[in-house]
Amino acid sequence: MILDNIIGFFSSDMSIDLGTANTLVLLKGKGIIINEPSVVAVQRDKYGRQKILAVGKEAKEMVGKTPGNIEAIRPMRDGVIADFDMTEKMIRYFIERAHRRKSFLRPRIIICVPYGLTQVERKAVRESAMSAGAREVFLIEEPMAAAIGANLPIRDPKGSLVVDIGGGTTEIGVVSLGGLVISKSIRTAGDKMDLAIVDYVKKKYNLLIGERTGEEIKIEIGSAVPTKEPLSMIVKGRDQVSGLLSRIELTSEDVRDAMKEPLKEIADALKDVLEIMPPDLAGDIVENGIVLTGGGALIRDFDKYLSDIVKLPVFVAEEPLLAVAKGTGRALEEIGLLQQLANE
Ligand SMILES: Nc1ncnc2c1ncn2[C@@H]1O[C@H](COP(=O)(O)OP(=O)(O)OP(=O)(O)O)[C@@H](O)[C@H]1O
Ligand SMILES: [Mg+2]
Repeated sequence: MILDNIIGFFSSDMSIDLGTANTLVLLKGKGIIINEPSVVAVQRDKYGRQKILAVGKEAKEMVGKTPGNIEAIRPMRDGVIADFDMTEKMIRYFIERAHRRKSFLRPRIIICVPYGLTQVERKAVRESAMSAGAREVFLIEEPMAAAIGANLPIRDPKGSLVVDIGGGTTEIGVVSLGGLVISKSIRTAGDKMDLAIVDYVKKKYNLLIGERTGEEIKIEIGSAVPTKEPLSMIVKGRDQVSGLLSRIELTSEDVRDAMKEPLKEIADALKDVLEIMPPDLAGDIVENGIVLTGGGALIRDFDKYLSDIVKLPVFVAEEPLLAVAKGTGRALEEIGLLQQLANE
């Protein structure tokens, strides 16, 4: 134990927010040192063997633009591990990159994983980190990390409600006395919105666009409620009928219409959680409101949209894209918190 503490003192323990869209790595005492898309670009040789060309930002830039033998993979789509091998390689890459200089000491690693992961998937994540050189691996759940990162009073005998809207999953958690009292995870989040926009543009304008363009449109002009000033942007793609390259002007109205379904699914999941909330905790939520984290919290007026539906105050956390990483990092600093949160 003493030795462990000494090692703990010297080694650079780290925490990882292993998201389906973005992976963030935080080094104890240093803060967030890696913040990159969870994408791996691989090349297949003539024997079918895969070679990793790039990971992270560089790999994401290749999505939808790769020649035949290069593939950009998002190994953790929809909140599940779609490609075990690539997920493992990605975890290993990020750990090694974070730890380049201090590789002689094996770190303790806390990994925040989507709430819905199965035991098999958890085991795979844990083993990847161990094989990348971790001395000890702790897994913590995303709604809890999000609540800590959003500075909610998680240890109080009071209910706090957090909604984390990521790329693959939306996770809703009610936290009280340091534990998750209620939680719900749905596989509707940012990615589904991107796809809904791609579909809409195809149906309404006969224009074929890729997922990355769908995401750009969402970020640039997407809004959950009508905007005061209409927003618009020029979108380029391929005309489905003529096959020629073409451009259209898309408005925020279009995008809102396109995202209607996924936005509603998130609101419905939130309503479901509110319905099963024990009355005493419900009182706390009425008083303190609901906090949004994750990249999806940045959709224009999503807070207002949800608030109109559930008739409760809704707030966006400060730096919502960093909330989970910050929460996981707090668990690194406070061993007591970690012991309380970590589970198998
Ligand atoms: N300004 C913005 N407006 C709207 N959406 C945004 C904005 N910035 C990022 N996003 C979206 O947020 C999502 C990524 O969020 P985040 O990094 O929290 O997900 P993740 O943690 O990787 O995923 P998960 O938690 O589901 O595993 C993407 O769908 C991205 O398009
Ligand atoms: Mg996340």
